Amino acid sequence: MLNVALPKGRLGEKVYDMFEKAGYDCPSIHEKNRKLLFENAEKGVRYFWVKPSDVAIYVEHGAADIGVAGKDILLEYRPEVYELLDLKIGKCMMAVAAPNDYVDRPEQTLRVATKFERIAGDYYASIGRDVDMIHLNGSIELAPLLGLSDVIVDIVETGTTLRENNLSPTEKIVDISARLIANKSSYEFKKPEIEAVRAALGMQV
Ligand code: PRP
Repeated sequence: MLNVALPKGRLGEKVYDMFEKAGYDCPSIHEKNRKLLFENAEKGVRYFWVKPSDVAIYVEHGAADIGVAGKDILLEYRPEVYELLDLKIGKCMMAVAAPNDYVDRPEQTLRVATKFERIAGDYYASIGRDVDMIHLNGSIELAPLLGLSDVIVDIVETGTTLRENNLSPTEKIVDISARLIANKSSYEFKKPEIEAVRAALGMQV
């Protein structure tokens, strides 16, 4: 049995569709209920819905053999997992954004609000900029509007959230998309099964 952690939500639906097309269907997943665990013994798969940012935790600890996580999570938390495939869905970017009328003063320490401290920290270290990092858990876009920070580092997908809050992206840090990941020991013990999943998903990207 392959244990598969899927990210709950819109991305997860797309991910499951890919698994279904790959031959790993699990019809009970379409039932309207609040169950989190679904199994198709015949196909040898068991799916569970987890919070997108928790997929890598399940996989790293071996509670899931494989899963699908955003590259943002992999870069930020660096879980000890194998990254097997770019699924080319859930595409967005990690970017710096600032109020539309923001003027940078490079000689000053930059106040950066973000959920992704490591990604932001690595980026500013790479360009040699001193920053004060302010960790927030959500609604990051508010920080510069209320004077809590100068800029933000956050995920930009359509750009709507930035636009509607009078912010603009100023620098792209990295492209993000969903990745198939595997637990390292599962990969050794269930290599043929996991490689079959990778190959079947790979045909769709
Ligand atoms: C992300 C991100 C932005 C928004 C960007 O939040 O933090 O707020 O999406 O998308 P857009 O460019 O299409 O407007 P998400 O919806 O993932 O929720 P979160 O705030 O809980 O992370």
